[in-house]
Amino acid sequence: MKVLAINASARKEGNTNILLNTVLDELKKEGIQTELISLAGQTIEGCKACYKCFKNKDLRCAFKKDMLNDILEKMESSEGILLGSPTYFSDVTANMRAVIERCGFVGRANDYMFKRKVGASLVAVRRAGAIPAFNSMNLFLHYMQMVMPGASYWSIGIGRDPGEVSKDLEGIQTMQSLGQNMAWLMKKLF
Ligand SMILES: Cc1cc2nc3c(=O)[nH]c(=O)nc-3n(C[C@H](O)[C@H](O)[C@H](O)COP(=O)(O)O)c2cc1C
Repeated sequence: MKVLAINASARKEGNTNILLNTVLDELKKEGIQTELISLAGQTIEGCKACYKCFKNKDLRCAFKKDMLNDILEKMESSEGILLGSPTYFSDVTANMRAVIERCGFVGRANDYMFKRKVGASLVAVRRAGAIPAFNSMNLFLHYMQMVMPGASYWSIGIGRDPGEVSKDLEGIQTMQSLGQNMAWLMKKLF
């Protein structure tokens, strides 16, 4: 049983990374395998609306010039998917948006290939705009027919500079509860 975490921050070792690892630590405690991929330094392009995924139905995106198909392959082979994004102008980063658009279309085109996987999301934020970012990822997870665990609060951690989020005790506790609930749910389902 495996969880794939996707960090869509432009900073590989920033706050989103800390929050994701806090969730993953709880999953590891329960014997669940984890993998974290960072999109820092990568440019993932948005959906081209070519609709080739609906024609090809090959579980992959027809645009092959970036790492999106690597992400799709890892998502396909994982039972759990954990999305993490910092808040950029009150929403997810451009890379997370691109992941949502293209994995969403490929998922839809291939008979909901992520259906009944366990999906969760979390957000790093300095001050405001975390909820729209959280919603953007959760709307994707829901549409893909994934099963979503809850947490002791909405999974948001507060901090600006790298590492600052560690001081947000409630945020860290929220991530721990998310990890525990995700592990509990996965053990029920798989
Ligand atoms: C381009 C950009 C836009 C941002 N927009 C917001 C915002 O709308 N609201 C906010 O509270 N913080 C905003 N921030 C701050 C980040 O969300 C915050 O520093 C977060 O902890 C970064 O996470 P990271 O270390 O994983 O990159 C922005 C940062 C950048 C670089």
